[in-house]
Amino acid sequence: MIVLGIETSCDETSAALVACDDSGESGAGGEVLADALWSQREHQRWGGVVPEVAARAHAHYLAPTVQRVFQQANLSWRDIDCIAVTAGPGLIGGLVVGVCYGQALSIASGKPFMAVNHLAAHALSVRLNVPCRFPYLLLLVSGGHCQLLCVESAGSFRLYGTTRDDAVGEAFDKVARMLDLDWPLGPHLEMCAREGNPEAYPLPQAFVGAQHCDFSFAGLKSAVRRKVEAQPPQTDKEKADMAASFQRTAIAMLCDRSARAMERFQRDYPSKQPYRFVAAGGVAANGALRQALGGLCAEHGFQLHVPPMELCTDNAVMVAWAGIERMRESGDNSRGVGGSPFDAIGLSAHPRLPLV
Ligand SMILES: Nc1ncnc2c1ncn2[C@@H]1O[C@H](COP(=O)(O)OP(=O)(O)OP(=O)(O)O)[C@@H](O)[C@H]1O
Ligand SMILES: [Mg+2]
Repeated sequence: MIVLGIETSCDETSAALVACDDSGESGAGGEVLADALWSQREHQRWGGVVPEVAARAHAHYLAPTVQRVFQQANLSWRDIDCIAVTAGPGLIGGLVVGVCYGQALSIASGKPFMAVNHLAAHALSVRLNVPCRFPYLLLLVSGGHCQLLCVESAGSFRLYGTTRDDAVGEAFDKVARMLDLDWPLGPHLEMCAREGNPEAYPLPQAFVGAQHCDFSFAGLKSAVRRKVEAQPPQTDKEKADMAASFQRTAIAMLCDRSARAMERFQRDYPSKQPYRFVAAGGVAANGALRQALGGLCAEHGFQLHVPPMELCTDNAVMVAWAGIERMRESGDNSRGVGGSPFDAIGLSAHPRLPLV
């Protein structure tokens, strides 16, 4: 089975061809035949992603990006089984470009179209390389989301907790901007934090010890803003201290809520040992977070699985892989399948497509 994946939900224009055998073996991985990603630099001078600019850039780059993966893999339309496209959530302009392009390809080639939920693609990305069986506990940490979910199958998710305000990736981006760091903001904040003292600035943590599994990052972000405005960091060392203090606090919050979710998962699935914990989404590329989660999992009796760095941030490989997972689960690779979060050709772009 070979699937073409297309991703245009934010500021990465990406296409990929991913193959796997269709035996239906639940933990079996896939093979990336070709992968092309265009990170839009057009937004850099605005300090954030401009939706209109992103949509135009996707329209400009998508066709050559798709063409490139077919050339790389030395394959043609005839060789693929499905066209899997991110249909939401994300910025509507970019989603419309990807969905319309994918549907047009589907009509022209006669190959089935499958709309993929971008969050499902993040959630399943780990299984491309690792035989991580369902159910697993997922910490989804990205630019637009911060959630704890139980992944029961390729199409079934249970929400344990979510952020009540900002996503953790957004907090990383905002704090990086306060510190005048370069684009891409999250990775630069992590680099800057390596040189700093994480205990330099005490910062507030929301919901520590609470019974629920929700998050809140607005208070932390505002606390950094107040400190930076009151006493702007002058030297690289002062910036690094603030970056390290913010990162340490954000990670402590993620670990505290994850510990609560682990207890709940063990109650909900007592017989599903070994327990598995997966971190996915752009912030899961953060080395300090990976290390902290490693310790947390060891303490609570969970195995930690994290996708490789390049599969954490947005990419079409995970979209193609989600298409494969869903086709294998439905046992039907002749057409797209109905129901959320995947659907057939009738589904249009959806900026607020929930996972649960
Ligand atoms: N090394 C890192 N440390 C911390 N944050 C990071 C790192 N690398 C990327 N990020 C953050 O990850 C986010 C991007 O992740 P991703 O591409 O998954 O988000 P998105 O697609 O914009 O949002 P969503 O998936 O919720 O729609 C950004 O906020 C970015 O700052
Ligand atoms: Mg994403």
